[in-house]
Amino acid sequence: MPHSRVPIGLPAVALLAVGLFLVGCTPSHPQSTFDTAGPVARSQVVLFYWIFWAAVFVFVTVEGVLLYSIIRFRRRQGQGMPPQIHGNTRLEIAWTIAPALVLAVVAVPTIMTIIDNARVPPGAMRVRVIGHQWWWEYQYPDLNIVAATELYIPVGKPVSITLESNDVIHSFWVPKLAGKTDAIPTNVNKLWLQADEPGWYEGQCAEFCGIAHALMRLRVRALPQEEFDGWVKAQQAPAATPPAPGPTKAGADYFKGVCSACHSIDGWGELAKEAQQGFKLIGPNLTHLASRETIVAGLFENNAENLARWLRNPPAAKPGSLMPNLRLSETDISNLVAYLQS
Ligand code: CUA
Repeated sequence: MPHSRVPIGLPAVALLAVGLFLVGCTPSHPQSTFDTAGPVARSQVVLFYWIFWAAVFVFVTVEGVLLYSIIRFRRRQGQGMPPQIHGNTRLEIAWTIAPALVLAVVAVPTIMTIIDNARVPPGAMRVRVIGHQWWWEYQYPDLNIVAATELYIPVGKPVSITLESNDVIHSFWVPKLAGKTDAIPTNVNKLWLQADEPGWYEGQCAEFCGIAHALMRLRVRALPQEEFDGWVKAQQAPAATPPAPGPTKAGADYFKGVCSACHSIDGWGELAKEAQQGFKLIGPNLTHLASRETIVAGLFENNAENLARWLRNPPAAKPGSLMPNLRLSETDISNLVAYLQS
């Protein structure tokens, strides 16, 4: 084997790295921070570009001067020691002032954006977002709604979010709508966001929070005001009482006896009662689960097959799930699916 041959692995790895890099840059990615869809994200991407070009200016200037000096003042044949210089007041003043100016160029817009975004526009809808291992809970205190994973908001209206955590540090991040903000136990963080267009906006927990961190997804659904009002009305309606004997009724009874140890299904009233008694919701509130598009922190489409798969063995479907494998019988599973889908 001739040893002058370039190993094929190195260029291949380099090519792959560049490819992955470029894929990360495409604005059409569902979680791209460059393809903004609301005023908060927009102000942040403007700031990003500002700092990016400031950094490009510094990089090009420094590397340019460095390369010029290396070539222009390189040692030539027959040259002796160059003159030795100690101190140059003018130069030292210049290289103190120049970075200070660059810092000011970066710091002033940054601080202005932070102050700007800390001001929530008047009339914002209030939502309390609570991070759990490993799912997101949404409480609408003015609407008496508790939901999970899918955050419904009206289009073009500011949403004021208070962020809390039930256990460890999480980070709430919907890249197209707003930068990430940590959810910290015993502390309340604030942010606001707004969506310009109706649609789904993908997001996820952005702070390592345990084994299922990567599976702690979320989605924001922005609806035109009228449709949002319809969603609110549907969520506020009491959970349907199952009809006389049948799988749905059997599922409801099972839920009351077993599942209700961790999950609530009676919406706001039940939750308020639990809060008064000092209970903490362990699993997501499942009121109107049938109206959600996804289950298990956004991992699976909400359908009978996936619900059954989940109930059969939660830790297998979502590694790290705090919901244990209850070894339910197939009859119990199909009854529960019937109830949850009703
Ligand atoms: Cu929650 Cu990562």
